Amino acid sequence: EKSGYDHFMLKEIFEQPHTIFDCLRGRLDAAAGTITMAGVQNNIEQLKNASRIIIVACGTSWHAGLVAEYVIEELCRIPVEVEYASEFRYRNPVIHKGDVIIAVSQSGETADTLVAIEKAKEQGATIFGVVNVVGSSIARISHAGAYTHAGPEIGVASTKAFTAQVVVLTMIALKIAHEKGSIDNKRFMHLLNELQEIPEKVPAALKDSEAIRKLAEKYKDAKDFLYLGRGYNFPIALEGALKLKEISYIHAEGYPAAEMKHGPIALVDETLPVVFVATKDSYHEKIVSNIQEIKARKGKVIAVITEGDEIISKMADDVIVVPAADELMAPLLSVIPLQLLAYYIGVAKGLDVDKPRNLAKSVTVE
Ligand code: F6R
Repeated sequence: EKSGYDHFMLKEIFEQPHTIFDCLRGRLDAAAGTITMAGVQNNIEQLKNASRIIIVACGTSWHAGLVAEYVIEELCRIPVEVEYASEFRYRNPVIHKGDVIIAVSQSGETADTLVAIEKAKEQGATIFGVVNVVGSSIARISHAGAYTHAGPEIGVASTKAFTAQVVVLTMIALKIAHEKGSIDNKRFMHLLNELQEIPEKVPAALKDSEAIRKLAEKYKDAKDFLYLGRGYNFPIALEGALKLKEISYIHAEGYPAAEMKHGPIALVDETLPVVFVATKDSYHEKIVSNIQEIKARKGKVIAVITEGDEIISKMADDVIVVPAADELMAPLLSVIPLQLLAYYIGVAKGLDVDKPRNLAKSVTVE
């Protein structure tokens, strides 16, 4: 049931205040200063003493893994690697007993992710599943895990499952850090509060959907798009580009903003829209100079910014505003306008956004 929305994708984008709330419910209690996750608690020794955490996933779930890499390394001081499941499974990877593998999957049935964890399990690693579909193959084969509780996702392009994955992975990181003592209590309490407030902030990230629909009209005939971000928002640039490719069939590339000088900047001219994921964080000054570099080459800049950011507002051709949040939580808000932009461009081009060509909801063949 689309509940009055034109497509499942739009419905699922708009469900995110609820799905994120459901994901936190019964787990995060900011007032008490606790995170209750049985799968983490029961394996806390392996998790906090892990010599390494390897995240394996595909597609959008791999992007959630990349966000988690930044969050886990920052909070837990454990080295993290994020692997495409298909590459990991075929290359005879080095796996030690003390390694923890986190498999991230909406469907829980992605063949490459499943085989990757089977192999790692045989070699003695602890397998932790972050899965949406209850009772799915990846959930069953994992030693432990945490469900994302996003509810059924029907649209082929993953939206609400992604934000739920990021929330679960962030809670896991916070819990490990707290148990390990790698985070001080003040910051722990601050981040719990920040995370608890996200479901209340998501509606503000959705409210400009009409303006984003108009932007989609303006840019729908572009041949290529570049998406740039730094730090916690770098994976969001990748995710924004993937959403656009899937739904609108426009070629798009996501890059770390500073990498553009090493190649992609050659693409920039007055016909190229460049989407900057540029919320107020510790990278802000750096991304402002990246925007200047694009403007100097006459690229069109569309920027996702924090409300009140006068600096980027003055520089960009178009801005989309999201509420302020701690930089660790920013991806949960900055991804939302990019989901909407891809959706509305697909609709403006008359495409079947719920069932894009050549794609399947769950990829059970390698
Ligand atoms: C993107 C998308 C795919 C999936 C990928 C992994 O919108 O839907 O890239 O994210 O196929 O699927 P799961 O998470 O089910 O393992």
